[in-house]
Amino acid sequence: MSLALLLFLLQGVCAVIVPWLDNDPFAESTETHKLDLGYPPVLSPDEITDDTRSLPHEGFVPQFVIDNCPLVHLYSEEEYWPADISDFVRHFNIQLSNGSVLQEHPLDLQDLKSKIQGPAGAISGRETYLSSVDDFDKDPRWLLGHEPDYGSGQIKNAPAILIVVDKGNGWVDAFWFYFYSFNLGPFIMGYGPWGNHVGDWEHSLVRFFEGEPKYLWMSAHGGGGCYRFDAIEKKTRVQYSNNHRTSKILQRPLIFSARGTHANYASVGQHAHDVPFFFSALSDFTDRGPLWDPSLNYLAYTYNGTVVTPVSDRERELGTKWLHYMGHWGDKQLPWSDPRQRWCPVQWRYIDGPRGPLAKNLGRTSLCQRSKWFNFWGGCPARRKIKRGQGLDAEHNDLVGDNCGILLYRVRPKWLRTLMRLIMWRGIACFIMDYFTG
Ligand SMILES: *[C@@H]1O[C@H](CO)[C@@H](O)[C@H](O)[C@H]1NC(C)=O
Ligand SMILES: *[C@@H]1O[C@H](CO)[C@@H](O)[C@H](O)[C@H]1NC(C)=O
Repeated sequence: MSLALLLFLLQGVCAVIVPWLDNDPFAESTETHKLDLGYPPVLSPDEITDDTRSLPHEGFVPQFVIDNCPLVHLYSEEEYWPADISDFVRHFNIQLSNGSVLQEHPLDLQDLKSKIQGPAGAISGRETYLSSVDDFDKDPRWLLGHEPDYGSGQIKNAPAILIVVDKGNGWVDAFWFYFYSFNLGPFIMGYGPWGNHVGDWEHSLVRFFEGEPKYLWMSAHGGGGCYRFDAIEKKTRVQYSNNHRTSKILQRPLIFSARGTHANYASVGQHAHDVPFFFSALSDFTDRGPLWDPSLNYLAYTYNGTVVTPVSDRERELGTKWLHYMGHWGDKQLPWSDPRQRWCPVQWRYIDGPRGPLAKNLGRTSLCQRSKWFNFWGGCPARRKIKRGQGLDAEHNDLVGDNCGILLYRVRPKWLRTLMRLIMWRGIACFIMDYFTG
């Protein structure tokens, strides 16, 4: 009993201290870039003046953004591939949460805007849901998306969305949004899946200083992973400029999209999921499945905190209003009475669809989309080492990742590391923290 208590306390201490040490709180936090020698502060869009602008004007995307676009390894047995938002919205009505239909399908992207006209006047898009007219439980074709072309990595039928935000003083943020029609949640001990939703927006952020990529952040379940750009695995690719191959060879960053959930990770293998299950089997899986190169088909915009500016005629034709639609890009959580709905403690089988790109805090100065409550120092430090996946798909089994940080990688001898991992691995404190933040 007292041993258990000791372990519990140790885990609590580890859970707070280890990630903090591990992440090098000073050099990497962009909130503390003022402390980071030589770097001027990152500014939010509303603080930028003509003197502090990094880019010449809105509507301009520099080549360095495209040259450093992350390549995405999708999962080899993925069922729900990237999808085209214009095609996706055709299969939906715009509805209120009480089921009242404001606009019938088929929708155009242009039908999505900040205010939706209903029979009783305009209603804030925020209160609305895109509600599927097909039974999504039966996997209609549009739900499945499109696989990348084997040779080029291009997905012809599903553009990625690029939003570039000037962060002043030489800083530029490039947000790459990945849209999938469906999020298939994980199984827990053979039961599931849990936390499915229609519509799935994921994204990565490459932060540049004077044209050099410095950081890469990637989304995973409302949180995300944050790395120094140097730490990320790279892949050699030929440069494309305005859709033409050049002779320049690039080192492109590589990220991994998890099976079903499309959460992004920096390595292959099994990754503990930030949903509260102690020693649970609830994990994401990544591997080197089909490679997607979003830089070969994307819609590009710049955003200054209020106004979205399209970059070319392709985006001008689609309009930019859809980006200001703050409703849910998928059905409302199914009611308890729906035969497709299930419940297990803490999770439903079908939950609400997500909100779109502009709901993802693009004005952030920190690298993270949002701070978790236990992050009392308010930073969002970037890792200098990749957090490795675990399990069969992992490629470096000795260096397994865990919820309480990767400091252990440096612990020698090996038996000591194993012992420490046993004490800390998915510690109770991590579990409790995750419970309130998942
Ligand atoms: C964004 O651009 C618009 C149009 O140019 C301008 O009216 C607005 O003040 C800008 N917003 C910020 C925060 O700079
Ligand atoms: C749903 O709510 C709207 C606005 O509050 C109302 O006008 C409408 O009649 C309601 N529909 C149903 C089916 O209750």
